[in-house]
Amino acid sequence: MIEQQSSLKEFLENVGETSFWISATRSVVTAYYISTIVSDEKDQSSLSEFEKRSIEILKRKNGSWVDDRLKICYPMGKVFDPYSYYLLSNLDTQQFIIESYKFYFDSIYDEYVKKNQDKQVMSKQELMDMQMDKFKNNFHPIHSWNDIFSTFFFYFTAFRTSLIDRVFMESYEQGIRQFVIFGAGMDTRSIRMPFDATTTVYELDFPQILAFKQKVLAEAIKEIPPAGQNQTIYVPCDLSTNDLGQDLKNNGFNPNLPTLWVAEGLMFFLDTPTNERIGQVAKNNSASKSRFLIHKYYESSPTPMPFDYQDEDYYKLTSRVTNKVYKWNFNINSKEFLEKNGFSQNYQEYLEQGEMVSLYSYATKP
Ligand SMILES: C[S@@+](CC[C@H](N)C(=O)[O-])C[C@H]1O[C@@H](n2cnc3c(N)ncnc32)[C@H](O)[C@@H]1O
Repeated sequence: MIEQQSSLKEFLENVGETSFWISATRSVVTAYYISTIVSDEKDQSSLSEFEKRSIEILKRKNGSWVDDRLKICYPMGKVFDPYSYYLLSNLDTQQFIIESYKFYFDSIYDEYVKKNQDKQVMSKQELMDMQMDKFKNNFHPIHSWNDIFSTFFFYFTAFRTSLIDRVFMESYEQGIRQFVIFGAGMDTRSIRMPFDATTTVYELDFPQILAFKQKVLAEAIKEIPPAGQNQTIYVPCDLSTNDLGQDLKNNGFNPNLPTLWVAEGLMFFLDTPTNERIGQVAKNNSASKSRFLIHKYYESSPTPMPFDYQDEDYYKLTSRVTNKVYKWNFNINSKEFLEKNGFSQNYQEYLEQGEMVSLYSYATKP
């Protein structure tokens, strides 16, 4: 378990928590990949050296990572993030997860009863006792983080991670050697992507988040060396107040090189002025051929869900994770935002269907 419990607690109770949501769900889709695709003898030849090595180590380390509780059955893109295992295993979060569960029951129990009015439902206390027993008898940080999500979360994380992995690789293949990730959280692309030594990945997030990540990954890469040779530079900051352009330059960022800027899972947590600051940093520091990928949520789905909910999913999805704690900012016009900040060419967008609908938009500076 990590040392700085007080600052860890602080960020888990704040927006930093959200980066563990995503890392936790990436651990599940990675487990899915390992347990299904990789166990098939035929596919072994297509694995990269990085994948082969990681799988061997993770299987030896903890067979229970690839267990039935992490198996899901939706069609999805390939996601391989072996480092999510380390990030989640190093969190001492039992109490936090229990609190999250209490929050669910308090905030959605009435709705759960209403939805099941024809059936005999458990009392709130019975439901809570059932869940708490599960934690007491079988606590595992990775399983427990994933327990607090609806299965829908796995589906969208898989889509999102594989899509953005592809954007990183395409950009790299087209000559981009500088990447800036706003609100990087537990994103591990800087060590998962097979980038060369001329490439630099800048990660911006709160100091406590980056300190935790740096410490855990420094140990993890001794067991699973990065897939590439690139440098990772952590830029601790508060996106709403720091002079981000200056912070980047102080850390070696070169505005004369084309850059891929990425705001994944971020803008809907930030207020509009902070989103505008992010746009401005990219606008003022982008060479020609730079690209920007942004990600927004819609408040409700214009399309039907790709699958049916289970009851349990329903009450998880309608509680904290989606709308109770955070003040979501849906007020983002992606195309306008990109154009306003100079990314006016080759606009592409990808709509992910579901309850929490994501739009990923991507454009290039001429
Ligand atoms: C949902 S997570 C997304 C993490 C990562 N981009 C991903 O998609 O896996 C949001 C991240 O934004 C960071 N964040 C939110 N507000 C921030 C701010 N004002 N300054 C710095 N980081 C911030 C949080 O700490 C968190 O790591």
